[in-house]
Amino acid sequence: MTPLTNGDTMRPAILVTGGAGYIGSHTVITLLEREEEYSNYDIVVVDNLSNAYNRAPNEKKPESLRVIEDLTNKNLHFYPLDIRDAEGLSRVFENHNIDCVIHFAALKAVGESVDKPLEYYQANITGTGTLLEVMRKYGVYKLIYSSSCTVYGEPERLPLDEGHPTGRTLTSPYGRSKYFCEEMMKDLCTSDKNWMVISLRYFNPVGAHISGRIGEDPSGIPNNLMPYIAQVAIGRLNELKVFGNDYKTSDGTGVRDYIHVVDLAEGHVKAIKLFQQHGFGGFHAINLGTGTGYSVLEMISAFERASGRKVPYKIVGRRSGDIAANYADVSLSHRLLGWRAIRTLDDMCKDTWRWQSANPNGFKKV
Ligand SMILES: NC(=O)c1ccc[n+]([C@@H]2O[C@H](COP(=O)([O-])OP(=O)(O)OC[C@H]3O[C@@H](n4cnc5c(N)ncnc54)[C@H](O)[C@@H]3O)[C@@H](O)[C@H]2O)c1
Repeated sequence: MTPLTNGDTMRPAILVTGGAGYIGSHTVITLLEREEEYSNYDIVVVDNLSNAYNRAPNEKKPESLRVIEDLTNKNLHFYPLDIRDAEGLSRVFENHNIDCVIHFAALKAVGESVDKPLEYYQANITGTGTLLEVMRKYGVYKLIYSSSCTVYGEPERLPLDEGHPTGRTLTSPYGRSKYFCEEMMKDLCTSDKNWMVISLRYFNPVGAHISGRIGEDPSGIPNNLMPYIAQVAIGRLNELKVFGNDYKTSDGTGVRDYIHVVDLAEGHVKAIKLFQQHGFGGFHAINLGTGTGYSVLEMISAFERASGRKVPYKIVGRRSGDIAANYADVSLSHRLLGWRAIRTLDDMCKDTWRWQSANPNGFKKV
């Protein structure tokens, strides 16, 4: 059922949940600036601003989206809404001719999820369920979901391919919420052949837009390595703690597959094109990574090279739940999406540094 009476005359729209956040904002700008075929589409962002900075309560748009409009000279639609608000979401579907949804909105801090499991299950699972119900109500069946390599748990083999078991050795409510959402969407696709779901399993997104005007803006102490290194380099934090140097890796520190956030964003743009392929349907999980792992010490050196700053660090004990190494098998993304990450580790560090050094306090101008 669709209550749109004038659907034919409305421009098609892409709904981006959580589009004011780190990966969402980079995807929004990529959609607006790179792909001619999307110039016809409205971009509609829904975000409850729980992790996005708004300059003042009466500002109509959060800072990340204001900057994007400024950089691209294009307008986007914004609704300050929680995805668990089914009525509010319904209004968005009534106001726009939504063609597909890219679903980023979620809580994402692994450590915090251990302390606040209910909040994580509520936001991530109930939120995704509500969004899917509203999509079904309005006959919108195309969804790109932000998943994570976390769903693989402790790797049984490397590189991690999409056929690797998921859900077995998950150590956090965050990881389980991503896994449960994937299972929910698989069941939905089995029950109704209209659905087309692409679950993109991100490895470790880092970096920032080339302009240096949007980037990762963690509130409080960063949970991820790259923003932590960047804040040490700029002098906001004193030193980096390296958790363990006795893993079975080249230098003993943990190895991860870091991917530039703009490469990741381009992966989403390619994924949208899959929906247009004849016969495409059902649930598809696809890794987005580079296929190469870097250790913590390699990341520190690369960042020091890019920034010209020293990054003091101290080796401490392993952190519970951490694994030695993970990196992606990226052959499916090459084959299905025709996409590959092209930005180097140097690009990731330089772009992070450009954003961090121009915006030492993130979007907040103090
Ligand atoms: N950053 C990573 O390392 C990483 C890795 C793998 C997967 N992911 C997934 O990618 C997605 C985006 O991550 P990010 O790094 O951009 O995070 P982010 O926190 O920067 O962005 C998420 C956005 O969603 C909004 N949001 C949160 N809960 C909401 C709700 N209930 N209703 C409406 N808006 C809500 C926040 O305000 C924020 O702007 C998340 O689903 C995350 O789990 C991130």
